[in-house]
Amino acid sequence: MISSEFPLKVSPSLLAADYGYLADAAISAEQGGANLLHIDYMDGHYVPNISFGIDLIPALKKRVNIPLEAHLMISNPEDRIEDFIRVKPDYITIQEDVPKDVRSILNKIRKSGIKPGLAINPDRPLSAIYNYLHLIDYLLILGVFPGFGGQKFIRDTLKKMEEAHNFRIKNNLKYDIAVDGGVNLLTARNIVKTGANILVAGTAIFGQENIKEAIENLKKL
Ligand code: DX5
Ligand code: ZN
Repeated sequence: MISSEFPLKVSPSLLAADYGYLADAAISAEQGGANLLHIDYMDGHYVPNISFGIDLIPALKKRVNIPLEAHLMISNPEDRIEDFIRVKPDYITIQEDVPKDVRSILNKIRKSGIKPGLAINPDRPLSAIYNYLHLIDYLLILGVFPGFGGQKFIRDTLKKMEEAHNFRIKNNLKYDIAVDGGVNLLTARNIVKTGANILVAGTAIFGQENIKEAIENLKKL
Protein backbone atom coordinates (compact mmCIF):
# COMPACT_ATOMS: atom_id res chain seq x y z
CA MET A 1 0.00 0.00 0.00
CA ILE A 2 1.08 3.59 -0.60
CA SER A 3 2.65 5.19 2.46
CA SER A 4 3.52 8.79 3.28
CA GLU A 5 7.19 7.83 3.00
CA PHE A 6 6.72 6.89 -0.66
CA PRO A 7 3.86 9.01 -2.00
CA LEU A 8 2.22 8.06 -5.27
CA LYS A 9 3.61 9.85 -8.33
CA VAL A 10 2.64 9.78 -11.98
CA SER A 11 5.20 9.92 -14.78
CA PRO A 12 3.71 10.21 -18.28
CA SER A 13 5.77 8.44 -20.95
CA LEU A 14 6.40 10.69 -23.96
CA LEU A 15 6.68 7.68 -26.24
CA ALA A 16 2.90 7.76 -26.63
CA ALA A 17 2.70 11.50 -27.35
CA ASP A 18 2.07 13.09 -30.73
CA TYR A 19 5.63 13.65 -32.04
CA GLY A 20 4.49 16.67 -34.01
CA TYR A 21 3.73 18.34 -30.67
CA LEU A 22 6.26 16.91 -28.24
CA ALA A 23 6.84 20.06 -26.20
CA ASP A 24 3.11 20.73 -26.04
CA ALA A 25 2.59 17.20 -24.73
CA ALA A 26 5.23 17.75 -22.04
CA ILE A 27 3.61 21.07 -21.06
CA SER A 28 0.15 19.48 -20.91
CA ALA A 29 1.53 16.73 -18.70
CA GLU A 30 3.11 19.28 -16.37
CA GLN A 31 -0.03 21.40 -16.24
CA GLY A 32 -2.09 18.26 -15.74
CA GLY A 33 -0.23 17.48 -12.51
CA ALA A 34 2.45 15.02 -13.66
CA ASN A 35 5.21 14.61 -11.08
CA LEU A 36 7.87 13.50 -13.55
CA LEU A 37 8.26 13.05 -17.29
CA HIS A 38 9.46 9.70 -18.65
CA ILE A 39 11.60 9.70 -21.80
CA ASP A 40 12.33 6.36 -23.46
CA TYR A 41 15.64 5.94 -25.28
CA MET A 42 15.56 3.03 -27.72
CA ASP A 43 18.52 2.20 -29.94
CA GLY A 44 17.06 -0.30 -32.41
CA HIS A 45 19.45 -2.91 -31.00
CA TYR A 46 18.64 -3.64 -27.36
CA VAL A 47 15.02 -3.21 -28.40
CA PRO A 48 13.61 -3.41 -31.94
CA ASN A 49 12.59 0.23 -32.06
CA ILE A 50 14.26 3.65 -32.27
CA SER A 51 12.93 6.63 -30.36
CA PHE A 52 14.36 9.98 -29.33
CA GLY A 53 17.72 11.70 -29.55
CA ILE A 54 19.72 12.92 -26.58
CA ASP A 55 19.11 16.59 -27.45
CA LEU A 56 15.44 16.20 -26.65
CA ILE A 57 16.37 16.63 -23.00
CA PRO A 58 17.82 20.17 -23.19
CA ALA A 59 14.97 21.11 -25.54
CA LEU A 60 12.37 19.96 -23.02
CA LYS A 61 14.20 21.55 -20.10
CA LYS A 62 13.53 24.91 -21.73
CA ARG A 63 9.81 24.19 -21.77
CA VAL A 64 8.98 22.35 -18.53
CA ASN A 65 10.21 22.31 -14.95
CA ILE A 66 9.13 18.84 -13.82
CA PRO A 67 11.96 16.32 -13.35
CA LEU A 68 12.92 14.44 -16.51
CA GLU A 69 13.77 10.78 -16.35
CA ALA A 70 15.73 9.13 -19.12
CA HIS A 71 15.07 5.39 -19.47
CA LEU A 72 17.92 3.92 -21.51
CA MET A 73 17.01 0.82 -23.46
CA ILE A 74 20.34 0.72 -25.24
CA SER A 75 23.01 -1.95 -25.70
CA ASN A 76 26.04 0.16 -24.84
CA PRO A 77 25.24 2.41 -21.89
CA GLU A 78 28.92 2.50 -20.89
CA ASP A 79 29.79 4.23 -24.19
CA ARG A 80 26.91 6.69 -24.06
CA ILE A 81 26.57 7.54 -20.40
CA GLU A 82 28.75 10.66 -20.55
CA ASP A 83 26.54 12.09 -23.30
CA PHE A 84 23.43 11.57 -21.19
CA ILE A 85 25.10 13.00 -18.10
CA ARG A 86 26.08 16.10 -20.06
CA VAL A 87 22.45 17.04 -20.80
CA LYS A 88 21.50 16.60 -17.13
CA PRO A 89 18.20 14.81 -16.89
CA ASP A 90 17.11 14.46 -13.25
CA TYR A 91 17.21 10.65 -13.43
CA ILE A 92 19.09 8.20 -15.63
CA THR A 93 17.88 4.61 -15.60
CA ILE A 94 19.80 1.79 -17.23
CA GLN A 95 18.65 -1.76 -17.97
CA GLU A 96 20.23 -4.04 -15.38
CA ASP A 97 20.93 -6.91 -17.82
CA VAL A 98 23.15 -4.94 -20.21
CA PRO A 99 26.41 -3.60 -18.77
CA LYS A 100 29.26 -5.77 -17.58
CA ASP A 101 29.86 -3.33 -14.77
CA VAL A 102 26.51 -2.04 -13.53
CA ARG A 103 28.04 -0.63 -10.37
CA SER A 104 30.50 1.67 -12.11
CA ILE A 105 27.79 3.20 -14.34
CA LEU A 106 25.50 3.79 -11.36
CA ASN A 107 28.39 5.39 -9.49
CA LYS A 108 29.21 7.61 -12.45
CA ILE A 109 25.59 8.81 -12.60
CA ARG A 110 25.52 9.42 -8.84
CA LYS A 111 28.80 11.36 -8.91
CA SER A 112 27.41 13.68 -11.56
CA GLY A 113 24.55 14.72 -9.27
CA ILE A 114 21.92 12.82 -11.29
CA LYS A 115 19.72 10.21 -9.62
CA PRO A 116 20.64 6.67 -10.73
CA GLY A 117 17.98 4.13 -11.64
CA LEU A 118 17.90 0.47 -12.64
CA ALA A 119 15.28 -1.14 -14.87
CA ILE A 120 14.42 -4.82 -14.75
CA ASN A 121 12.59 -6.80 -17.43
CA PRO A 122 9.63 -9.11 -16.75
CA ASP A 123 11.67 -12.32 -17.10
CA ARG A 124 14.44 -11.28 -14.66
CA PRO A 125 14.29 -11.98 -10.92
CA LEU A 126 14.82 -9.22 -8.39
CA SER A 127 17.62 -11.35 -6.90
CA ALA A 128 19.72 -10.44 -9.97
CA ILE A 129 20.01 -6.90 -8.59
CA TYR A 130 19.91 -7.31 -4.80
CA ASN A 131 23.53 -6.14 -4.73
CA TYR A 132 22.77 -2.87 -6.50
CA LEU A 133 19.60 -1.76 -4.75
CA HIS A 134 21.50 0.29 -2.15
CA LEU A 135 23.11 2.28 -4.99
CA ILE A 136 19.95 3.55 -6.67
CA ASP A 137 17.21 6.13 -6.14
CA TYR A 138 14.81 4.62 -8.62
CA LEU A 139 13.87 1.04 -9.45
CA LEU A 140 11.93 0.64 -12.69
CA ILE A 141 10.01 -2.62 -12.91
CA LEU A 142 8.92 -3.32 -16.46
CA GLY A 143 5.37 -4.60 -16.74
CA VAL A 144 5.97 -5.51 -20.39
CA PHE A 145 8.99 -6.47 -22.50
CA PRO A 146 10.38 -3.07 -23.51
CA GLY A 147 10.33 -1.75 -27.04
CA PHE A 148 6.83 -0.54 -27.72
CA GLY A 149 4.03 1.31 -26.01
CA GLY A 150 0.50 0.00 -25.76
CA GLN A 151 1.32 -3.58 -24.72
CA LYS A 152 -0.63 -5.68 -22.25
CA PHE A 153 0.56 -5.66 -18.63
CA ILE A 154 2.15 -8.94 -17.49
CA ARG A 155 0.44 -9.74 -14.18
CA ASP A 156 3.24 -11.97 -12.99
CA THR A 157 5.42 -8.87 -12.43
CA LEU A 158 3.24 -7.83 -9.47
CA LYS A 159 5.12 -10.31 -7.26
CA LYS A 160 8.42 -8.60 -8.06
CA MET A 161 6.95 -5.22 -7.07
CA GLU A 162 5.85 -6.62 -3.75
CA GLU A 163 9.26 -8.18 -3.20
CA ALA A 164 11.01 -4.90 -4.11
CA HIS A 165 8.82 -3.04 -1.63
CA ASN A 166 9.46 -5.54 1.18
CA PHE A 167 13.18 -5.43 0.39
CA ARG A 168 13.36 -1.64 0.73
CA ILE A 169 11.47 -1.66 4.03
CA LYS A 170 13.54 -4.52 5.47
CA ASN A 171 16.84 -2.92 4.47
CA ASN A 172 15.78 0.63 5.21
CA LEU A 173 16.39 1.74 1.61
CA LYS A 174 14.69 4.74 0.04
CA TYR A 175 14.52 3.99 -3.68
CA ASP A 176 11.26 4.72 -5.45
CA ILE A 177 9.57 1.79 -7.15
CA ALA A 178 8.29 2.77 -10.58
CA VAL A 179 6.29 0.54 -12.88
CA ASP A 180 6.51 0.96 -16.66
CA GLY A 181 4.51 -0.74 -19.40
CA GLY A 182 0.83 -1.60 -19.55
CA VAL A 183 -0.06 0.76 -16.70
CA ASN A 184 -3.65 1.97 -16.90
CA LEU A 185 -6.49 2.62 -14.48
CA LEU A 186 -7.30 -1.09 -14.20
CA THR A 187 -3.78 -2.50 -13.79
CA ALA A 188 -2.65 0.40 -11.59
CA ARG A 189 -5.16 -0.60 -8.94
CA ASN A 190 -3.22 -3.82 -8.31
CA ILE A 191 0.16 -2.15 -8.85
CA VAL A 192 -0.27 0.38 -6.04
CA LYS A 193 -1.37 -2.40 -3.68
CA THR A 194 2.13 -3.87 -3.94
CA GLY A 195 3.70 -0.70 -2.54
CA ALA A 196 5.07 0.50 -5.91
CA ASN A 197 4.74 4.29 -5.89
CA ILE A 198 5.50 5.69 -9.36
CA LEU A 199 3.17 4.96 -12.26
CA VAL A 200 4.78 5.42 -15.67
CA ALA A 201 2.06 5.52 -18.29
CA GLY A 202 2.16 6.30 -22.01
CA THR A 203 -1.02 5.22 -23.77
CA ALA A 204 -3.14 5.61 -20.64
CA ILE A 205 -2.21 9.32 -20.55
CA PHE A 206 -1.19 10.63 -23.98
CA GLY A 207 -3.60 8.28 -25.73
CA GLN A 208 -6.50 9.93 -23.91
CA GLU A 209 -8.45 12.98 -24.96
CA ASN A 210 -8.09 14.70 -21.61
CA ILE A 211 -4.52 14.38 -20.33
CA LYS A 212 -5.21 16.20 -17.06
CA GLU A 213 -8.13 13.94 -16.23
CA ALA A 214 -6.06 10.83 -17.08
CA ILE A 215 -3.28 11.94 -14.72
CA GLU A 216 -5.70 12.88 -11.96
CA ASN A 217 -7.49 9.54 -12.17
CA LEU A 218 -4.21 7.68 -11.76
CA LYS A 219 -3.16 9.92 -8.88
CA LYS A 220 -6.42 9.25 -7.06
CA LEU A 221 -5.68 5.53 -6.73
C1 DX5 B 1 8.19 0.31 -22.85
C2 DX5 B 1 8.58 1.73 -22.51
C3 DX5 B 1 7.48 2.45 -21.81
C4 DX5 B 1 6.30 2.73 -22.71
C5 DX5 B 1 5.06 2.39 -21.95
O1 DX5 B 1 9.04 -0.16 -23.82
O2 DX5 B 1 9.70 1.68 -21.66
O3 DX5 B 1 7.91 3.61 -21.15
O4 DX5 B 1 6.21 4.07 -23.11
O5 DX5 B 1 3.94 2.54 -22.77
P1 DX5 B 1 2.50 2.14 -22.30
O6 DX5 B 1 2.20 2.92 -21.04
O7 DX5 B 1 1.64 2.53 -23.43
O8 DX5 B 1 2.50 0.66 -22.03
ZN1 ZN C 1 10.18 3.42 -20.27
